Amino acid sequence: DWTMESFIELQVAEIRAKVGKGRVLCALSGGVDSSVAAALVHKAVGDQLTCVFVDHGFMRKNEAEQVRKVFTEQFQLNLVFVDARERFMAKLEGVSEPEVKRKTIGNEFIRVFEVEAAKLGQVDFLVQGTLYPDIVESGTETAETIKSHHNVGGLPEDMQFKLVEPLRMLFKDEVRELGTELGMSEEIVWRQPFPGPGLAIRILGEVTREKLDILREADAIIIEEIRRSGLYRDLWQSFAVLPSIKSVGVMGDGRTYEYPIILRAVTSEDAMTADWARLPYDLLHNISSRVVNEVRGVNRVVYDITSKPPGTIEWE
Ligand code: XMP
Repeated sequence: DWTMESFIELQVAEIRAKVGKGRVLCALSGGVDSSVAAALVHKAVGDQLTCVFVDHGFMRKNEAEQVRKVFTEQFQLNLVFVDARERFMAKLEGVSEPEVKRKTIGNEFIRVFEVEAAKLGQVDFLVQGTLYPDIVESGTETAETIKSHHNVGGLPEDMQFKLVEPLRMLFKDEVRELGTELGMSEEIVWRQPFPGPGLAIRILGEVTREKLDILREADAIIIEEIRRSGLYRDLWQSFAVLPSIKSVGVMGDGRTYEYPIILRAVTSEDAMTADWARLPYDLLHNISSRVVNEVRGVNRVVYDITSKPPGTIEWE
């Protein structure tokens, strides 16, 4: 009889047998998969595991700090927290094409990660939070390769690691169950998927500090309101997008000329197809009025009512 408890026992034994006395490295992204994978491997091999979290500066509000807290305070594992925000911003200067952005961020991520890995000396294993659908998707998918997702196979080819992929037989809901069983908070375990390049691909065109601040604040309000409405778990993803256009508005006696925020919220099973979410009007109203009133530089909120296909979930 299959239970999560027995799965954990089995995996722990398997990881221990595979790893032996080896050193294990894990890149934490802040997402559910790498977090649960890290917690599971930590349970199996304790201090033999070192996690590296690269803060590229494109995380959602408070997210990087939360990663630091959870893994150093709750799980007390070896965490190397790299503040690489300046480096990534510098690399993205003048870059506006989506795929170039992705490659730039991906390459920089590898560079930063390699430097940290090298500091650790001999590392024998690399943990990847690969899920069953990831393996299937990257094998058969054609349309999605239009966007170079870097969850699978994005790490340097010349790295001399063996892979530890303790989630490779699991679906997302099982990973959540596993995380809960391992004591992770619902906030982490039920976090919606977030792309590796983060907010950088939700700012259409060139990324600037000003735009990042605007997007991060608007996004935080959207998430807060959606959580409050009780719909957060029902949505595959819900987030803000910031286009590089301005439009005219009016506030008080004055004319404004500022950015719109695009609200994107979709339901989906696997991200291959998605439907725009029929959010309640009251929720849309709350989001709109709060974003416009609380985020400086925004004077309009629009809702994306495009499904996938033909739209993609992200705007870049
Ligand atoms: P699209 O926009 O192609 O997104 O419908 C499908 C799913 O993939 C996520 N996504 C990414 N994930 N790196 C990632 O790790 C990326 O560059 C990337 N682009 C899109 C997206 O959030 C959605 O869940």
